[in-house]
Amino acid sequence: MPSITVESCTLALFGALGDLALRKLYPALYQLDRAGLLHADTQILALARETGEAQQHLASIDEHLRRYVPGSEVDEAVMQRFQARLHYLTMDFTQADDYAALVEQVGNSERLIAYFATPASVYGSICANLAWVGLAERARVVLEKPIGHDLESSRAVNDAVAEFFPETRIYRIDHYLGKETVQNLIALRFANSLFETQWNQNYISHVEITVAEKVGIEGRWGYFDQAGQLRDMIQNHLLQLLCLIAMDPPSDLSADSIRDEKVKVLKALSPITASQLSNQVVRGQYVAGSSGGQSVPGYLQEENSNNQSDTETFVALRADICNWRWSGVPFYLRTGKRMPEKLSQIVIHFKAPPHYIFAPEQRQLIGNKLIIRLQPDEGIALQVMTKEQGLDKGMQLRSGPLQLSFSDTYKSARIPDAYERLLLEVMRGNQNLFVRKDEIECAWQWCDQLIAGWKKLGDSPKPYAAGTWGPMGSIALITRDGRSWYGDL
Ligand code: BG6
Repeated sequence: MPSITVESCTLALFGALGDLALRKLYPALYQLDRAGLLHADTQILALARETGEAQQHLASIDEHLRRYVPGSEVDEAVMQRFQARLHYLTMDFTQADDYAALVEQVGNSERLIAYFATPASVYGSICANLAWVGLAERARVVLEKPIGHDLESSRAVNDAVAEFFPETRIYRIDHYLGKETVQNLIALRFANSLFETQWNQNYISHVEITVAEKVGIEGRWGYFDQAGQLRDMIQNHLLQLLCLIAMDPPSDLSADSIRDEKVKVLKALSPITASQLSNQVVRGQYVAGSSGGQSVPGYLQEENSNNQSDTETFVALRADICNWRWSGVPFYLRTGKRMPEKLSQIVIHFKAPPHYIFAPEQRQLIGNKLIIRLQPDEGIALQVMTKEQGLDKGMQLRSGPLQLSFSDTYKSARIPDAYERLLLEVMRGNQNLFVRKDEIECAWQWCDQLIAGWKKLGDSPKPYAAGTWGPMGSIALITRDGRSWYGDL
């Protein structure tokens, strides 16, 4: 039996037949149901433009659900219970008249959760229509990314929503915040005094954050080409990870205490001027190469592509945080599509001891590293120095891990998908895994200056072969500072 209770609600999914809903949201809701974390009275309203028989749409949802939930986790009794919660309504979200059916279906339910899995351009009209039909007072709204494509457009979306909803009822998704291991960053940092005393520029030399994807664009060219890797990944996921590593300890676990600390980090990010761009930021775009032993096309040859595009599919950059804790500690961020493997990892590099007494040729081994593996093979390893065993080894050093692998240590526990946690927290009314308006705006402000710099310089992305770790410039970015990406030695 779950140790937390969840109140009953009506969950209205706007954009209910879209890719996100089919791939992520229904499977996550099913898993919550299976774990006993959906209240018996909770109903799910699937809302989409598509006309036709509701039964047909529900059958398609069922078919996708069975495709995305692993066979070993399909429980027919739960499937049936879950199907019984689902109702389909055809709606044009911009038409107030279409909301009458929604009002009827919501009935007396005290809590409405309106999940916007639609383009951000319609968030404002949905909010206005919910208010018009009198549903806004009992609703929490969940906003998917991307919220705008720069500071100005993100403000416009946020302002349109804020006309009808207070910040306390707005849940902006960054699905990285729902990942189990990302949550663990908070526990690792603030439930262990061991690290906090070392967590500053006196002991840490630099930090690496890598979020690499093996896949390419996967049929999303239209969206991706307007965004690029900086807007799609750095503005949100990587900056959120940076904040969780760099923030000061919050005074408690409340949403605002955590978010206040994250905003301070974003505000302390040093701007990167156009003249610093070539040394501090590398843009790349993949060309044909191979992935998993198969030839794959370049970005410009992907389905529906426009072969003139200079949108980046890779970014590596050096960010500096101007505050007492992090002055002089670079944060190297790297993210790209069509990398050799899927890997999200943070490496904290500690400084070498102040006085070195071992063999000179082993000097480069020195320096502890804390490796936080977010996906796959979630776990934490601390690289520590020991000596090689054996009479003939003298004081020969080796660097080895003190390791915590989540899957080996907690064998029975299934790692929940980020969306399960996020949906659960919305139902519980807990905002600390969601992004506040000022956070998102500070992140845009910092990214906007990079984009403006690229424009000013007419900078085009450098090519890299699919299946490699990005353009050579990404290596130069870090070796210029006398360092290398972890694993590249
Ligand atoms: C999304 C991006 O936010 O995150 C996608 O829009 C990206 O382009 C995805 O593929 C990566 O998420 P994950 O959880 O697979 O690392």
